[in-house]
Amino acid sequence: MSAELVCFEPACRACYDITEVIYNCPRCGGLLEAAYPGAAPEAGRLKALWRERRMSNLPLDQSGVWRYREFIPFLDSLEPVVTLREGNTPLLDAPRAAEYGGLKRLTFKHQGFNPTGSFKDNGMTCGAAQAVRLKMRRVACVSTGNTSASMAAYASASGLDPIIFIPHGNISYGKLAQALEYGARTFQVEANFDQILALVRTLAEKLGIYLLNSINPFRIEGQKTIMVEMMDQRDWRPPDWVVLPGGNLGNTSAFGKALREMLAWGLIERSPRLAVVQAEGSAPFYDLMHAADRSALHAVVHPETLATAIKIGDPISWPKALHEVETSGGVVEKVTEQEIADAKAIIGRCGIGSEPASAATLAGIRKLTAAGVIDRDADVVAVLTGNLLKDPDYIYRYHTGQLEAPGGAPIRSTFGNQPTVVPNDVDRIAAILGAGG
Ligand code: F0G
Repeated sequence: MSAELVCFEPACRACYDITEVIYNCPRCGGLLEAAYPGAAPEAGRLKALWRERRMSNLPLDQSGVWRYREFIPFLDSLEPVVTLREGNTPLLDAPRAAEYGGLKRLTFKHQGFNPTGSFKDNGMTCGAAQAVRLKMRRVACVSTGNTSASMAAYASASGLDPIIFIPHGNISYGKLAQALEYGARTFQVEANFDQILALVRTLAEKLGIYLLNSINPFRIEGQKTIMVEMMDQRDWRPPDWVVLPGGNLGNTSAFGKALREMLAWGLIERSPRLAVVQAEGSAPFYDLMHAADRSALHAVVHPETLATAIKIGDPISWPKALHEVETSGGVVEKVTEQEIADAKAIIGRCGIGSEPASAATLAGIRKLTAAGVIDRDADVVAVLTGNLLKDPDYIYRYHTGQLEAPGGAPIRSTFGNQPTVVPNDVDRIAAILGAGG
């Protein structure tokens, strides 16, 4: 199957060689996507092959991305690929979260089980492979934390030099620590994500550095496999809804593309609807979906949220995401800081846990079921995008009643769990714990 880069704009659809180092259409400025002209492989044969590979000890078969390599065939050789065994993330039943969300049943697809703790690894193994294929030496990204952690790991593992740019003081220490440990050259810029993205794009062009933000179409290809793996794990029975948080909207674009392509390839018979959830203070996509005119996104100039992963006011992939949400018959919701914090604590009480941005999913589900948009009986998969340990500071503050929303308003620790300081005294501790097993 051949591969090419195609402009996403319906009025343009210009085609370019798959090895061109471009991030936007040189003709019209539109976003680019990988496309694969030619007949799709037979669906039954693919499903059998992918299932068989789960038994294999070959590194690429063990990867939850490259196991599905026929679905992301942008490379002409697999030689540039480095895998850290990304993907392979579980589907977890969460009855307590289901009840909180107003559902009979809820399943989490937990991307926090990835090697660097977020869904970015699915895309980064592909982005790094393309960088190696193109004989790039240096790779760069701007990030709210997870992209940079992932890029640092995959670049270092692939022999590339990672250079990352992060908004100073606005990413969690867990994520910053990962970038440092994985050996990235790290710049903390005194600006927000949207401003730094513009800066990095100029720098990348000037210095010939390969850009690995989600504007990079090969990252999107990798993130498609999150949906493929989910369908495989469900024996190809699509859920009614897939719920995910929205920031720069790369994941929404990837999920929608995967669903469309799985339908076209005959791997599934119908598409789930996408529900994207944003934080109230950083919700330009929500505003766009609820505007009379959806032809232009109005950026939020000063985005605010404690869910720093999705603190983005000018999401680059909005035209793709809009198309995917509309095509799937989906919706966009927004939730408050309090709603995110409480939903996150509930996910924790399921024994599962996530970082704040991921918990926007459950907060959004609760609103969407209350509004009658999602049915109580619906079959829902919510994608938890990042691991609980990404942001321990937030957790400690919530449980000890010290968490404050960006404007300074206190966040109630509705489901708080305060630690108790005690002397080294058996009787005193026994008295606190009381009788009874
Ligand atoms: N959840 C987490 C944990 C994230 O890190 C991100 C994005 C999102 C959700 C939103 O995904 O951008 O595809 O809509 N983090 C990026 C980063 C922006 O730099 O790590 P999106």
